[in-house]
This record gives sequence, structure tokens and C-alpha cells, in this order.
Amino acid sequence: MELSQSIDAAGLRLLERIRILNGVSTNTEWLERTLFSPAAEAAAYKLKSWMEAAGMEVTEDALTNVIGKLNCSPDGPDASTIHLGSHYDTVINGGAYDGALGVLIAIATVEAIAGAQIPMQHNLSALAFCDEEGVRFQTTFLGSSALSGQFEKAWLYKPDALGKKLGQWLVDRGESIDEVLYAEPTIRPQDFFIESHIEQGPVLESANKSLGVFTKIAAQLRAEVELHGMAGHAGTTPYRLRKDPLPYASEMILEVNKLCRSDERVRATVGQLNVFPNASNVIPSRVTFTVDLRLAKYADLVEAHEALQSEFNRIAKRSGLQFVYRVKHTAEDVTLDPRLTGILSSHCQREADSSIQVFSGAGHDSMKIAQVCPVGLLAVRCRDGLSHHPDEFSTDEDCLAALKVMVGSVLEIDREL
Ligand code: GLV
Ligand code: MN
Ligand code: MN
Repeated sequence: MELSQSIDAAGLRLLERIRILNGVSTNTEWLERTLFSPAAEAAAYKLKSWMEAAGMEVTEDALTNVIGKLNCSPDGPDASTIHLGSHYDTVINGGAYDGALGVLIAIATVEAIAGAQIPMQHNLSALAFCDEEGVRFQTTFLGSSALSGQFEKAWLYKPDALGKKLGQWLVDRGESIDEVLYAEPTIRPQDFFIESHIEQGPVLESANKSLGVFTKIAAQLRAEVELHGMAGHAGTTPYRLRKDPLPYASEMILEVNKLCRSDERVRATVGQLNVFPNASNVIPSRVTFTVDLRLAKYADLVEAHEALQSEFNRIAKRSGLQFVYRVKHTAEDVTLDPRLTGILSSHCQREADSSIQVFSGAGHDSMKIAQVCPVGLLAVRCRDGLSHHPDEFSTDEDCLAALKVMVGSVLEIDREL
């Protein structure tokens, strides 16, 4: 088959699969596909079958990463590999494109090249990472960390919201902890990785361009705050005898908001708030909330974080309550590989008349993988710049243009690098 025909056929399947995966959710009211959920299992099953149909050798690891390999290099299975992929988990009430588009474009790219029987120097792989959003354990990039040899043993002790630790999840699922700790990395220094991802911001749309290339990704931090007071009767306990953590937690949350308002560069969010026992006539005994902090540069993030922590400490001291502060995740800002960025950019120019370079405020598996091998990240326009929202949307035309850029870029990397 001619390459253009093969791309067209893979493109049709890509569009159909975006719709199918959008229906694979734990919740019937919204899209939710978190690590180890039945919906994630069902999605992994579908991804495996699509990878197999594209001629890949498919495995699923203990963490539920799905790995499709096309060993097309004459140098055999250990030859340098061009990996493509993204994550197939979602946030709660997420959209159809965040992560899923990159996974499905990865499969379609391999499918298009295999279908046209193009001789390749490198092997190809399509990777579907099990957990990038970090919803269950607040550990983002779990899947890509494991596949790039960066899984940390301490993560086995990370609890989910019900206190069940990652290690226990693996044991209960009949998986081998050793397999997670000592697996040979799939992604190695001699390899390449390209991800395609919706922009999750408005730059491309406002420039009227379908595609662009991310050059940098912001630094990020996640923390969890606990304030412990004492439960009591809402009708009988006078103010001076209360140990209510909620007003103090509220003050802290306002500090997060103030930080964000005082400096345009800061993105600071409290996205999760839990009040225990969460009953209208009971003074709360415990409040927990999360902090998500992002800044373009890691040094600035550290500075903003220190300022926030000192405000929290001040409020906690005044409250006299037990205060626990845990940093759950940090990632330094990343500059993507200039050669891969250049290649993606030249194909964006050709396909979409676009040479736009975009900064990513969102986190990506590419950040983790960039610690190990050269990484490039393609940006796909999304409507109203909307993401982490059910109305997240990219047009079929933009998704197909992204597929063409990925195929062209892979072939160029294969020839030139
Ligand atoms: C991932 O979507 C993140 O940036 O939180
Ligand atoms: Mn996301
Ligand atoms: Mn994503």
C-alpha cells in the first residue's frame, strides 16, 4: 500500500478509536479512567487489540502500561527504538483527548508505517502509559517513570485515598513487586521518544493554526495538607471551646489563591478538599486539601513554595492544631530536544503552515522521559484551549494533521538520527 493510503486508513481508525475510548469510563455520568480501575483495564484491553491488529508484539506490565513493539530494524530487537505514546488514564470528569489522543496517534503512526512496509533502521514502539495524572496516588508520571527505569521504591508505600498502598495494590493484583523494581527499561538512552498531545491552552487556536511544537514544560509540585482538630456538637460547643480545623484550612486556601493573584507567572490550585466527617451538624475533626503549584522555572517554583509554606506555618501556629504538610511530587522544568523539536517543526510547517512554538504549563510523560533520551512533543489545537473538562475537543482534521506530522517526523528521525 502507498504510504498516503496507509495513513488515510490508519486515520479513519484513529478517529473511530477516539470515540470508542471516550466511552470507556468507570462512571456513566463523566469520563473517569484512573489507574487500576475496571475502566482502565477495559481500555488497556482495547489498546492491546489495536496494537496487535497493527502488527505489534504487545505486552502489559505489572503497572498496566501497554507496550506495543514493531521490531522493524535489520539490527534486531535491541536496536535503537523510536517510541511514540502518551497516557491512557484520565482525571475525574476528564476529556476525550488528554493523553488518549497521543496514545491513539502513536498506534496509528506505527500502523501507517507498517501498512506501507517502509524499510526502517530503528524499531518502533507505541506506548500507552497507565498513569500520568496521578489521581490515585498523587504520583504523576507513574507509567512513564517505570518504563524509563525511573520507578522509585518509595512509591510502593504511597497510599490512595482509602489508605491502600501501591505495593498492596500490586500484591492484591497478583503482580510481582520485583517485576516493577527490576524490570529492564523499555525506554533507553539510545532511543527517541515523541509524544503528541492536545495543547490544553489557547495559543494555537488564537493564532488560527492546527499544530505547533512544545519547546518547554513548566516545573510542578503537588503537596497535601492535613489539619487535625476535634469533632464536636455544632449546637452546643461555644467558639472558644472548639478545635475546628476548617476556618484555618480556609485561610490557607486563600493564601494559595493570593499567591496566584499576586504573580501572573504562578499557577496555584487547590483541587481537592476533604472535610471529615462532612456532616452539617458536626464540627469537623479533620480537613485535608491538595496544593498544585506550577511555574515556568524550578528555582521560581521553589521560592514561591517556600513563601506559601511559611504562610501555612504561620496560620497553623496560630491555630494550635496538629498540622501535617507533605510534598507528594516535584518535577523540574524541561527543555525538549532541539533536534526533535526542529524535525517536528519542519513537518508542522509542511502540513499546517505553522512554525509556532508553545510553552506547556501542563505536565506530560515527556518530562520524565526527557531525563533518559531525546524527546519531542507535538501540540494539537483544542477548542477554547479547554482541557480537564468534558467539553475538551480537537477537530478530526487537526487529529489527522497531527498523524501526518508524526509519520513524517518518525521517518525523518529514522533517516537522519
Ligand atoms: C496533567 O495533565 C497535569 O498537568 O496535571
Ligand atoms: Mn491531564
Ligand atoms: Mn495529558
